[in-house]
Amino acid sequence: MSNAMLRADEAPQAGSGPILFLRRWLANPLQMGSIVPSSPSLCRRIAALVQRAPQEYVLEMGAGTGVVSRALLAAGVPAERLIVVEIVPEMAEHLRQALPGVTVLCGDAFDLPNLLPAHMQGQIGTAICGIPLVLLPLEMQQRFVAAVEAVAPGRGFLLYTYCVTSPLPWRKLGLAADRRAWTPLNFPPASVWKYRPARA
Ligand SMILES: C[S@@+](CC[C@H](N)C(=O)[O-])C[C@H]1O[C@@H](n2cnc3c(N)ncnc32)[C@H](O)[C@@H]1O
Repeated sequence: MSNAMLRADEAPQAGSGPILFLRRWLANPLQMGSIVPSSPSLCRRIAALVQRAPQEYVLEMGAGTGVVSRALLAAGVPAERLIVVEIVPEMAEHLRQALPGVTVLCGDAFDLPNLLPAHMQGQIGTAICGIPLVLLPLEMQQRFVAAVEAVAPGRGFLLYTYCVTSPLPWRKLGLAADRRAWTPLNFPPASVWKYRPARA
């Protein structure tokens, strides 16, 4: 369907999902790490890896326009048990509008212990990271691992990536690692890695 055939209320808005994503990529490509949102195939594979007890939360970091968040909800995570963290205020506002009932935190995932409300800390069943950690220096990766460990002790996190091998130097970070999923139906093809503290 061409844009000319769309009704006014259907037409893509300047801030709608893919357009917002592209605009943010143009503004800060390293922070976005990708030019397009994750595909439905990748989002479903991420959602299928979620584990949580009924009272536990799922924590998604780097939610962007919310494609993974929607897959998590579709897979059965209750909105009131989903927490999403996004550093870009405009995207966080988009998420608030698009995901009623979900806890949307606008801030830096590296500052999780200060960002996440106290009653949610230690109650995370699965943490998911969409932040392009591979582009960061080891010291920043260490900070991220420590931040997740502080709020979700022993749980580790899922990380989706376009890298063929592990995007993180897991031994240097004191982690155990394994690749849990892969899909060619993403641009580019993507994997989902699970990292957890080596001692856990
Ligand atoms: C590759 S995009 C993933 C977006 C979405 N989850 C998807 O799969 O399409 C990375 C997202 O992480 C966000 N981000 C980058 N650094 C962050 C940080 N330190 N804390 C929270 N979000 C961050 C970016 O703004 C962007 O929305």
